[in-house]
Amino acid sequence: MVPNFYILLICLSTFSLLFNGATSFYLSLPHQHPDPEAVAYDVQRRVDDSISVRQLLSTQEKDKCKTGNPIDDCWRCDSNWSNNRQRLADCVIGFGQGALGGKGGQIYIVTDSSDRDPANPTPGTLRYGVIQDEPLWIIFSTSMTIKLKHELIVNSYKTIDGRGATVHITGNGCITLQYVSHIIIHNIHVYNCKPSGNTNIASSPTHVGYRGRSDGDGISIYGSQKIWIDHCTLASCTDGLIDAIMGSTGITISNNYFSHHDEVMLLGHDDGYILDSGMQVTIAFNIFGEALVQRMPRCRRGYIHVVNNDFTYWEMYAIGGSGNPTINSQGNRYIAPADPNAKEVTKRVDTNEGWADWNWRTDGDIMVNGAFFVPSGAGLSAQYAKASSVEPKSAGIINQLTMNAGVFGGPRHESFSGPGFSGYGSSTGTTNTGSVGSSGGDSDYFGMIFGSGAPQPTCASSIFLCILILCTCMVGNILS
Ligand SMILES: *[C@@H]1O[C@H](CO)[C@@H](O)[C@H](O)[C@H]1NC(C)=O
Repeated sequence: MVPNFYILLICLSTFSLLFNGATSFYLSLPHQHPDPEAVAYDVQRRVDDSISVRQLLSTQEKDKCKTGNPIDDCWRCDSNWSNNRQRLADCVIGFGQGALGGKGGQIYIVTDSSDRDPANPTPGTLRYGVIQDEPLWIIFSTSMTIKLKHELIVNSYKTIDGRGATVHITGNGCITLQYVSHIIIHNIHVYNCKPSGNTNIASSPTHVGYRGRSDGDGISIYGSQKIWIDHCTLASCTDGLIDAIMGSTGITISNNYFSHHDEVMLLGHDDGYILDSGMQVTIAFNIFGEALVQRMPRCRRGYIHVVNNDFTYWEMYAIGGSGNPTINSQGNRYIAPADPNAKEVTKRVDTNEGWADWNWRTDGDIMVNGAFFVPSGAGLSAQYAKASSVEPKSAGIINQLTMNAGVFGGPRHESFSGPGFSGYGSSTGTTNTGSVGSSGGDSDYFGMIFGSGAPQPTCASSIFLCILILCTCMVGNILS
């Protein structure tokens, strides 16, 4: 079954390259929302409601829990939250809304921080929990550092909930969400993730597969939907801190703290991959902290809602893209670096023409230190501005909404000062690595699934299906 699905996806992407831009039909992804503007509006409404509630409270109540952040205020005011952990799943907003994680499943407690045999994980380890077929809400018995031997391949309907412990995930991999749905990752440190692979790794209790070399992403989202990454602290990985590619959608990335990294977030790996037109991602209440270079995020196609984040540092640019993505930037603070050549928030990557109609808008953003956002498409029209109109947010509100970004209470860089860590690793930080400014960093994704010994595309029925789709679509093009 799985190899068939691979073939179908490869087939669709090949086909999308052949007919790039000329297609008259529309393929949609599972969990793609029919009205992304309505989802963006709903996020703003919830922020406004949460802030209004806060403003009505006495100072004493305010200090306790009602921060104005609609996600946190949803669960943190329950002093008994540790006995009602699964309520967290009701708190996601934006495109990831409805991501269930392990809601309704049992609590699985990680008691063993080891990762001795990725092909045959030991009960009690994180890896043993994440590969199970049934929904699980995974928590940790104590604070621990899990040094992965290889990619951690997570099965559908899982929550990794680090509340109540300090959990570090690092090493080889790191977290891979491939062809899965309903994943919540909350309150985890992820850093120093390195490429690895060419080995057998269990992805379910009954399946062990050969994996090619991974990219070294912090969290890699591949062909997956309904994903929520909240309150994580991410830094210093070889490739992206969070990458979402190949038909992933229904994603919310919220309340995280990013630092010490070059290519922070890649959404879509190929301008010609039309399925990514259905990619819908909410990026809210994050802090983009020190020693970041670019891609916060870099988008291809899709609808990306960037709302109420604090961009405190970049070296090249903050938000970029190609392939006509819709970028809706609302109520963020952009603090430009000192470099007079890097004041622009936005960057149209690898394109000389044709971006005038890309819908990139700025609405209520706060620009600091000479930062400027170059809008285009509908983002420029007065009519659009009138229809949406978000109140400009004050700097105070950005501070308030992001005050707990990253892992709760944890220092944001302890990962780099504790014993056993001697700096930021060789691949990141403020010195530009070889792939800066080129598109080369996006290239070797096929290695993930078609490394030597990976499942071979031999299924005749999938090839037949591929030809059928190609023909249907060619006919569609001729008729149109
Ligand atoms: C905490 O939650 C649990 C589980 O819902 C419940 O049984 C318990 O009574 C609650 N305790 C308090 C003090 O509210």
